[in-house]
Amino acid sequence: MNVTLRQLAVFEMVARHLSFTRAAEELLLTQPAVSMQIKQIEDEIGLDLFERLGRKIYLTETGVELYRLSREISAKLLEADSIVDEIKGADGGRLLVAVASTVQYFAIRLLAGFCERYPKVNINLKVTNQKGLLQLLENNETDIALMGEPPEGLDLLSEPLLDNPLVVIAPSNHHLRAKQNIALQALKNEVFLMREQGSGTRTSTERFFSENGFKISASMEVNNNGAIKLGVEEGLGLGIVSQHTIDIEVKTGRLVILDVNYFPLMRKWYMVRRSGKRLSVVAAAFENFVRKEKHNYVRFP
Ligand code: PGA
Repeated sequence: MNVTLRQLAVFEMVARHLSFTRAAEELLLTQPAVSMQIKQIEDEIGLDLFERLGRKIYLTETGVELYRLSREISAKLLEADSIVDEIKGADGGRLLVAVASTVQYFAIRLLAGFCERYPKVNINLKVTNQKGLLQLLENNETDIALMGEPPEGLDLLSEPLLDNPLVVIAPSNHHLRAKQNIALQALKNEVFLMREQGSGTRTSTERFFSENGFKISASMEVNNNGAIKLGVEEGLGLGIVSQHTIDIEVKTGRLVILDVNYFPLMRKWYMVRRSGKRLSVVAAAFENFVRKEKHNYVRFP
């Protein structure tokens, strides 16, 4: 049936008032314009919608049925409108965020704040390393990524977010814990719990040590900051982690930050998205929230 929503709306108004004149007044149309729309529907379906008895019009059987259907359609359209409004107001909708593992503690606090402001938003959070994040961006599987600096030459828009200092951590009874200005050479006798290949933390740590002419020895490779912290606490070796990830452990005395020369190594976090991607209203609201509120969610030891 080739009937437009406009024609249905005109029909519904005539059916409601059982009057072409009243319908025309409400719709701000002329009466012939209303009659024309009704005639077009009747021609299209090949049946009459109204019958005239004396001065009154009545719905035919077909008219009654079409009136019921058109009210259902109107209700659905109203529902669709309110869904669109909700999403436009960033009160609902879905947000896909991916963050580097160093960012996860900060990101959880940030998302808690965002959810408080937009409680109806449905959030999907992925935590992975630099390599995994680049993959998610490439596959268009995330709206926004919070991560270390992406390599140049990719089709990405990135803006600096916060400093990400990398520090050397040790168990609280470590023999270097109270020493100041520890020379890099002193680390030659230590073993490290290293992040996995593909981690930005790992890449920049390796680059730093090779620029300074030596290689640190890894006792273990671990793909998770939480496990590195536990391993360091248990005396499995030293760790090099983002200062953003160790607030509680340092405050409670389970870990110490060693005062090693040249540390902290300064990295940065960025807010990144695909350059051609049109952000949903929710994702744009999140971007603004991050820009404005980021400093309120940083916890440094
Ligand atoms: P990552 O952290 O080590 O989990 O990849 C992000 C980064 O600092 O690049």
